[in-house]
Amino acid sequence: MKNFWDKSQNDDDNERLNHSGFDICQKDSPPFKLKPPLHVTNRERRKQSMKGQSITVLRPGMVLMKGYISSADQISIVKKCRELGISDGGFYQPGYSSGTKLHLKMMCLGKNWDPESSLYSELRPSDNTKPPGIPETFHDLVKKAIQDSNEYIRGNVGGSNEGKVVPNMSPDICIVNFYSKNGRLGLHQDKDESETSKKKGLPVVSFSIGDSPEFLYGETRAVDEAEKVTLESGDVLIFGRKSRLIYHGVTNIVPDTAPSSLIHATNMSPGRLNLTFRKY
Ligand code: SIN
Ligand code: MN
Repeated sequence: MKNFWDKSQNDDDNERLNHSGFDICQKDSPPFKLKPPLHVTNRERRKQSMKGQSITVLRPGMVLMKGYISSADQISIVKKCRELGISDGGFYQPGYSSGTKLHLKMMCLGKNWDPESSLYSELRPSDNTKPPGIPETFHDLVKKAIQDSNEYIRGNVGGSNEGKVVPNMSPDICIVNFYSKNGRLGLHQDKDESETSKKKGLPVVSFSIGDSPEFLYGETRAVDEAEKVTLESGDVLIFGRKSRLIYHGVTNIVPDTAPSSLIHATNMSPGRLNLTFRKY
């Protein structure tokens, strides 16, 4: 695990990381901008009206739901994560005893996941704080995304589809990552959950909000063999069943790709918020 997360994120971020947690939103209002050109506004409207309509099975067990999370829900998620993130157990910059830091800020909900030991626990070892619980509204969205993805598979994917749907999953862990402009995460598997959870192929459900990441996934850790997809704000990615242990990572964040309406409503800093829900 350790070889893919190296050296720390930029110093500006570290300045906003204090005892009460990293603030994913800026204190000052976003700089005044002229109204976006009409084609940009129209593009955002088109994306919003596509809500829930574009679902693609990327590979067995791996489903991409484009524009699934409504603008209003994206705004609520950012506000909630901001509130939890500046409180006890909120965002911090994880690292190793060697001093090496990850290129992101992290907060766990439900249980803590420790990158150094790869273990889940009730408290965060670095400061003994207890992770906040997973908000009920997040649970509801995860449940609905899995149901809608399965409904799509049953209706649209050929052959006997019952074997292709992903099992329902009620998460007890959510890892929330914030990637600022230099954020990244090397290829890895999510394999620290229980053997039962992995054996059943209980899905990992991932929400992307804010700037777009270049997301890699593949059978092995080889970057040059991995597939690449650009995720966008409001996308949900589900990987369960045969794709439960897929290698995945983020090579980079594409600047200035977050919807301007989201930035104006939340004052979110440039970057990407990612929530991955799992069942231990
Ligand atoms: C993760 O693998 O923990 C996060 C993946 C992502 O940022 O999309
Ligand atoms: Mn992961």
